[in-house]
Amino acid sequence: MLVSVIFVSFLIIGSGSHSQELSLDTNGYIVYCPCMGRFGNQADHFLGALGFAIALNRTLIVPPWVEYRTGEVRSIQVPFDTYFNLTSLAECHKVITMENFMKRLAPVIWPEENRISLCYSPRGSTESCNAKEGNPFGPFWNTFNVNFTNSEFYGPFHYDVHHTNIANEWKKKYPSVDWPILAFTGAPASFPVQHENKYLQKCVVWNDEIQNKAKNFIKMTMPRGAFVGIHLRNGVDWVRACEFISSTPNLFAAPQCLGYRNERGKATPGMCLPNVDLILRHLKRVIRNAKDVKSVFIASDNDYMIHDLSNALARMEVTVHKQSEPVSPHLDLAILGTANYFIGNCISSYSSFVARERNVKGLPVFYWGFPPDRLSSTNIKEEL
Ligand SMILES: *[C@@H]1O[C@H](CO)[C@@H](O)[C@H](O)[C@H]1NC(C)=O
Ligand SMILES: *[C@@H]1O[C@H](CO)[C@@H](O)[C@H](O)[C@H]1NC(C)=O
Ligand SMILES: *[C@@H]1O[C@H](CO)[C@@H](O)[C@H](O)[C@H]1NC(C)=O
Repeated sequence: MLVSVIFVSFLIIGSGSHSQELSLDTNGYIVYCPCMGRFGNQADHFLGALGFAIALNRTLIVPPWVEYRTGEVRSIQVPFDTYFNLTSLAECHKVITMENFMKRLAPVIWPEENRISLCYSPRGSTESCNAKEGNPFGPFWNTFNVNFTNSEFYGPFHYDVHHTNIANEWKKKYPSVDWPILAFTGAPASFPVQHENKYLQKCVVWNDEIQNKAKNFIKMTMPRGAFVGIHLRNGVDWVRACEFISSTPNLFAAPQCLGYRNERGKATPGMCLPNVDLILRHLKRVIRNAKDVKSVFIASDNDYMIHDLSNALARMEVTVHKQSEPVSPHLDLAILGTANYFIGNCISSYSSFVARERNVKGLPVFYWGFPPDRLSSTNIKEEL
């Protein structure tokens, strides 16, 4: 029954002039919950999942972003195209949004009595993926009214399709006739993003609305002339994570600076949580070398250091700016992505999103405390 449905290659859904043609992918689909971390981590995972879908030549069902709002216990799911351009994504690979898939295709090719979740090995106490246990797992699938009827443990398979023959193994073990939908409990991707998948950043382009907001902000708020965008990651969770930096020399997104095997050194406290002296020294150095800088745009999750920075830069006639409240972290990212210069945090996946976007555009990227020069390593000792 399922098989015969899959070989129907076109579905006509809707009626009259509003009918839309949706083709079915006989190679199957991949769906997953972006269940780890906030935007930066989810974006890393997204590129990996896209690379995996390309290798298996399955359509990627594009999940919404999982967000958390203060005062709300459960995660909320925000459609991908709230921020990004689906047309640009579709130019890279065949995709369908999860909203669209669930509404139009799931009733036909993903029957409720045959929804199996995939995970590496059992999660929790029972022999199951427990795909809906906890937040954001439960709220994510509930957004689409998905219950799972069974679990499949795919271990020891993995997602490194670039260095191994694993893509063919996946195809052999999970052929699309029997497994039209591969529904993963978490992203079929590594964190941080694998080097070989970074180029896929070119597929993740801000939609017109966000791009226009960024342009408007720059036009209305920033003085004419070049500006440096900076990312100050310094919330309490981060301060705590940075305490363990000496025992985790490749923490979070650190490989973007240090290499995946620490080929370019080890993470330092100055890279993770630069103090105001280090920040000012690097900022002034970039401003002096650039010569055309008139202002600085700050993105932060906590302390913008507005007063320290504006006092220190006043003599250089450089002004300091941030979004007014409530700050949109996505608009911050889009502004940082277009800045003339950018200084980010090696350890932060939020910074790495900006760095990848700027690499695609050929724009310069600098990092706090990296590479560690003599000046900043003295400074790092002071910080310790
Ligand atoms: C991938 O699948 C599409 C159909 O969805 C097909 O047209 C294309 O030839 C396939 N590509 C490869 C490399 O097999
Ligand atoms: C999923 O399970 C929940 C709780 O067991 C139930 O209330 C809901 O109706 C189910 N949804 C579907 C689509 O079967
Ligand atoms: C997506 O990008 C294309 C090409 O740049 C553009 O024409 C279109 O308006 C964009 N769509 C949205 C919704 O941003």
